[in-house]
Amino acid sequence: MKLLLLGSGGREHALAWKIAQSPKIEKLYIAPGNAGTASVGENVPLKADDFAGIKDFVLENQVDMVVVGPEDPLVKGIYDYFRDDEQLKDIPVIGPSKAGAQLEGSKDFAKGFMQRHGIPTAAYQTFDGTSVEEGIRFLKTLQPPYVLKADGLCAGKGVLILPTLEEAEKELREMLGGMFGQASARVVIEEFLSGIECSVFVLTDGKDYKILPEAKDYKRIGEGDTGLNTGGMGSVSPVPFADEAWMKKVEDRIIRPTVQGLAAEGLDYKGFIFFGLINCDGNPKVIEYNCRMGDPETETVMLRTKSDLVELFEGVAEGNLASRQLEIDERAAVCVMLVSGGYPGKYEKGKVITGIGDVQGSVVFHAGTALDAEGNTITAGGRVIAVSSYGKDKAEALAKSFAEAQKIQFDGKYFRRDIGADLN
Ligand code: AMP
Ligand code: GLY
Repeated sequence: MKLLLLGSGGREHALAWKIAQSPKIEKLYIAPGNAGTASVGENVPLKADDFAGIKDFVLENQVDMVVVGPEDPLVKGIYDYFRDDEQLKDIPVIGPSKAGAQLEGSKDFAKGFMQRHGIPTAAYQTFDGTSVEEGIRFLKTLQPPYVLKADGLCAGKGVLILPTLEEAEKELREMLGGMFGQASARVVIEEFLSGIECSVFVLTDGKDYKILPEAKDYKRIGEGDTGLNTGGMGSVSPVPFADEAWMKKVEDRIIRPTVQGLAAEGLDYKGFIFFGLINCDGNPKVIEYNCRMGDPETETVMLRTKSDLVELFEGVAEGNLASRQLEIDERAAVCVMLVSGGYPGKYEKGKVITGIGDVQGSVVFHAGTALDAEGNTITAGGRVIAVSSYGKDKAEALAKSFAEAQKIQFDGKYFRRDIGADLN
């Protein structure tokens, strides 16, 4: 099979690494990819949301399947673009339709969906430019801190958690006044939930689903979960509190009602669902849905996925996922993200990366990297490399990742040394 994977981050390198191991793969293309994906497949200089360019490429190269890494092309409707095109309609796209991708593309849609299907989540209301004063009255009924969410996609910046009513009022006015453009034309205000977060992933063909290994990611730049939010500084799988009893609650109260709800509402969904969960006194609640895999969770989830991922994708495409096997590696997996100095604020790119070849015993997933004209691997983003390792337990895996992380060098390299330290 010839498979085209869309995207360019650490998530895509991890997916490409796993896909390339399938005996079914004759050719793997990644568009646009990074320096790491170039080592397991062929990079194609196309943007993941250049639908017309992707169409030409797919037809010229007789691509048999398209797997979508990031949310953007999904929310923009790449699934529908293929389904509705006479020449592309028989080429499966692994990812939801535009309507299904609203689970991530519109926070208001996601909240309404959960309400309709009795899925546990924070209490909320949605406001727009005509209901600012009602929004402020609603804020006054809540306890601090206050959670404001821009309805649309904001590259991970659309959620604000404010300690005082004054700040919440001010930010609400700014968001509805166009702070994130059209994405914050509507704002969801919701109850603050406290607990530890956990990411759960399923692959679904729209009827049945397979639950992939869960993971926890570390979002803040600083150790002890301090400082600014990032795309993710590391991840750990499994998550100790996500034991069998807890996962049963997740499946019964959240996963099954979500998959059945999508089908009941006629929303075409053949792809990954990412459940961002929070453990509230033993009870899982949904913080958010994403219509794709997580990053940097994929870097550990793929390590723990033993089965042939392409075989599972075929099950999704053919609608017979129930008859496919998903085997999970019992070992622990962790990843530690090496980032550019200054990230998530201003940082420089183009720093030469050395030492990747010296890494032994860890899997090096590239995130923001590129090859320069001389063939050097250079930094090309804030998150640069995910050093991912197996271990008999989390401690052993972490020890490996931290040791191997020392071998990779670039000017300004930073990583958190406390990944996984909050879990026992
Ligand atoms: P998001 O950008 O949607 O991933 O949200 C960013 C982060 O905000 C989440 O990962 C949570 O840590 C936090 N968050 C979102 N909603 C809530 C909530 N209702 N209560 C507490 N924390 C929240
Ligand atoms: N790790 C969180 C995300 O991918 O959104």
